[in-house]
Amino acid sequence: MPTYQFTYHEHVNDKALSGDHFHLLTAARNATESAYAPYSGFRVGAAVMMNNGEVITGFNIENASYPVGICAERAALASAISQFPEEGIRALAISYMPPSGESSKPAFPCGMCRQFISECEDRNQAKIPIILGGQQGKIIVIETAKDLLPFSFGGKDLA
Ligand code: THU
Repeated sequence: MPTYQFTYHEHVNDKALSGDHFHLLTAARNATESAYAPYSGFRVGAAVMMNNGEVITGFNIENASYPVGICAERAALASAISQFPEEGIRALAISYMPPSGESSKPAFPCGMCRQFISECEDRNQAKIPIILGGQQGKIIVIETAKDLLPFSFGGKDLA
């Protein structure tokens, strides 16, 4: 029977991260403070590192018409690509702060963001590693965005 498997990295805390990944996760953690989440109170921060070293952050921006709100990942990636359309993306980090204040394990991107990140990776023509962590505690590093979206739909299907 065909089986889908992928390998990811797990760390007990941020100490084992590379310098770039630690820097990026710190930016994502800090970005949660700027989130506009008056309805859910769930603050998400994301940070994108470009190949030129620039770090662009984003956060969730909710709306009174709930579906109109945007997730942190898409806000950060849209900003990064708009500011540096010719630059490759080196990595993406995601963090969060819930109303309870308990943020000690990773939270994963929603399905819509996985689809968005997947196409950013196609456009990037290089893998986008994703660093996931709360404000403290366990960290997960996924080597390629595609691992979060098996059998993805993409531009190839419309060709
Ligand atoms: N949210 C994100 O920003 N990213 C995700 O991947 C999951 C959910 C936001 C959307 C909404 O503002 C809040 O978290 C609660 O769902």
